[in-house]
Formats: sequence, C-alpha cells, structure tokens
Amino acid sequence: MASARLAAALPGRALRRAPGARGPTAGARAGAPWPRLAPQGGGGSGSGAAWPRRSYVTTGLKDMEEDATPLQVKYWVEGKPAVPLDSIKVDLSKYNTEKIFSVYGGEDGATLLPDMDLAETQRLRAHMEDVFSRIGVVHLVNTGFTSTSQFNAATKVLMPNHMDYTGGANRRAPIEANVYDTGAPREADLQYHHEMAYVSTSCQWVAFGAIEATHNPIKGATFISENIGATNMLLCTTFGRKLVDKGMCYVRKLPDEKYFVDNDRDPSIVYNFWQTSTGCTDMWEAQEVMERKGLEVEWQNSAVFGRYMVTKYYVDTFEYDPFNDRNTLFASVADDYAWFDSWPGVQKLPHWERPLKLTFGDGEVINREQKQLWVDCYDTHGLPILWSKGDLAIICNYRTAHGRPRRRSLAGTGASWA
Ligand SMILES: [Fe+2]
Repeated sequence: MASARLAAALPGRALRRAPGARGPTAGARAGAPWPRLAPQGGGGSGSGAAWPRRSYVTTGLKDMEEDATPLQVKYWVEGKPAVPLDSIKVDLSKYNTEKIFSVYGGEDGATLLPDMDLAETQRLRAHMEDVFSRIGVVHLVNTGFTSTSQFNAATKVLMPNHMDYTGGANRRAPIEANVYDTGAPREADLQYHHEMAYVSTSCQWVAFGAIEATHNPIKGATFISENIGATNMLLCTTFGRKLVDKGMCYVRKLPDEKYFVDNDRDPSIVYNFWQTSTGCTDMWEAQEVMERKGLEVEWQNSAVFGRYMVTKYYVDTFEYDPFNDRNTLFASVADDYAWFDSWPGVQKLPHWERPLKLTFGDGEVINREQKQLWVDCYDTHGLPILWSKGDLAIICNYRTAHGRPRRRSLAGTGASWA
C-alpha cells in the first residue's frame, strides 16, 4: 500500500495546553537556555574552526548506560480491534460521487472541489460527521478514486480548511498542494504517534489516501490507536502519573545539508537536515522558523554532521482534547531514538547519536521498561485500517494516534509491499 498523506488541518491553530496540567519543572527550564552563536562572517559549511565545539550532553553520562534494545511494537491485539472495523467506514458507492465532485475552484481555478450546495453532498457530509464523531476516524471505501486531487476534494467534504506542512521532523515531499508522501522508508516500523506532537502548534486531523493497495489488506494496513483507552491504561501506572507530574522534553538534532553536499558525505545516516525541515538555507532564518514554533535552538559543530541544529521543546505529555473535554495522551516513543530501531541507516547509529530523544521534563531518562509500557498502552487500543485502492481515511489527531509496521518485500517474486 502506498499511502499518500493528504493534508493537515486548520491553519496554525494551537493545541490548547491541558487545563491544570503541569509543565516542566523549574529546574528543567532554568537549565535549558543555551546561548545562540553569533553569525560568523560569510557563514560557511561548519567544517572550519569558527564554530565552537560543544558536547552533546542532554541528560548526563547515564545516557550511555541506557538499555537501548529495540522495543516490541505490535500495533494491535490481533483479532481484537478497539472498535468494530465496520463502525468507522462510509461506503461511497452509495453516493453519486460524480455529482458531488464536479466543480473546480481554488486560487488557480483548477482545484477539484465538492459541490457543497448539493443535497447529496450534505447527506455525505452528515454521514461522515456522524462516523467521525465516534472515535475520531472515518474510512471512505468503494470510492473509485484514482488521483490525489480526488482524495483532496473528498477530505474537504468534512474538513474545508487545510494547513501547509512546515517545520516538520522528517523529509516529506509534497505530491501536490496539501498532499504529501509519508516521508518515511518502507523498511521502518513507524510507532504510534500524534502528528507534529513535538511543536507548539499541530494539526487537528490528518488524512491518508491509498494510491495503491496490497492484495492482503492486513499486510499494508495503517493502524490507529483509540486515545481514551490508551490514556486511561497509562494513567493507571506509576509511570503515567510521573509523566503527568514532570512533562516531557523533546530533543532533536538536525544535520547540515550543505556540509554533506560539500564534503560528499553519505546522507543515509541523516533523518532530516535543518534546511529541509525549515525550508531555509540561512541558519538564522532556520532558527527563527523553529523558535516561532516554540522550540529552543542551539547550534553545535560536529565533525560528522556539520552545523548541527539541536532543538529542545518542553511540553506536557497530555493535551486538552476538546471532543472529550479532558486531558489525553499526546506524546509517544515515536519522538525518541526508539523511532529509529528499524530505520535504514540511522538505526546503525548508537542511541546517543540518533536524531531524537525523549526525556522527562526535568531531564530524567525514561528507561526501556517505561517506554515498552507506553507502547503497550497504544497497542492494546489499536485497530487496522485495511486499505483497498482509492480508500481515504481522515483521522482526528487528538482522539487517535497512528502508525504502521514496516513493509516487507516478497522474496523471490519481485512483488513488494509498498
Ligand atoms: Fe504521522
């Protein structure tokens, strides 16, 4: 299944901080600010001596002593989806989609749109809203869609406003306006996560469309986890309560693309360059992009990664979910070095050199046992979205997390899971 990410939500709308939720400790904040480096004349690739070397010590020497054995990620309890799969589906063959998707507009006048004045479109919208209101997902099936423009138009029946994707974590190429590839290699397991959890403004929903599908849907499935169940399970543990008390710190390390190009370095150990993530080639403009998103930025000089942008983001583990009027889980191990347990290239790096790390808000290490418990909470409340070609799923970024296992090639046949 090749899935295309379609769009992300209302422009720039911030997730509200959980009422009464505690942020990072004063100690974590007090120790956090790093001085900016003054711009050096003419910039440079970072290979010269102008960039002072700094050690990368986030949580102390104990970093090296962590048990970094890959986590076990199951995505769901097989045969026991969190809700019946039919309860999230809308069968589009019961609607006249030729009539619904028959108008063109947008800035260029050539964007396919739903005709919202039609009673048929309003009937479909009401149906999608009803299904979406249950646990925060609607899965359109039997669509007959063959293009991303149709996915985009169908998404607008439920969600008329889209936002552009900026300042993201990984390399994510736009397919067309508001449509992106998933930005991850097929060989990698993608653990459950909420989209853009690591910045101060995130999207409210994400849509996925199946451009192609596998013959065996479970082999190409995307998984979602029902967040209320995962939250309740985690809060029953000492670890969950500690997450409430201490909050989180997301640490990210973004290498310098220019350094890799100038020195003909192998980019396979790079998750994302800061130039790609920010859309800027000037380091100070790139820093401003990140700071506007609430991240603290430090520049380091690395013999391996060049001008290294290191960001820290302090945030509560739980966010306010307006649909359920309560605080629910929003962070996950997808923002830890565990994200790279199966990521080609980056998985070879020792955990302290990987681009992501998640700690408690006061810098305390989250150990492997705690991370595994976290994964288990999401897995216990997971369900698969079984794709057929043309399917579209719109998922709420508050009420669900999403992820997918690696796609394996079929040895000897030449076929593959995309
Ligand atoms: Fe995602």
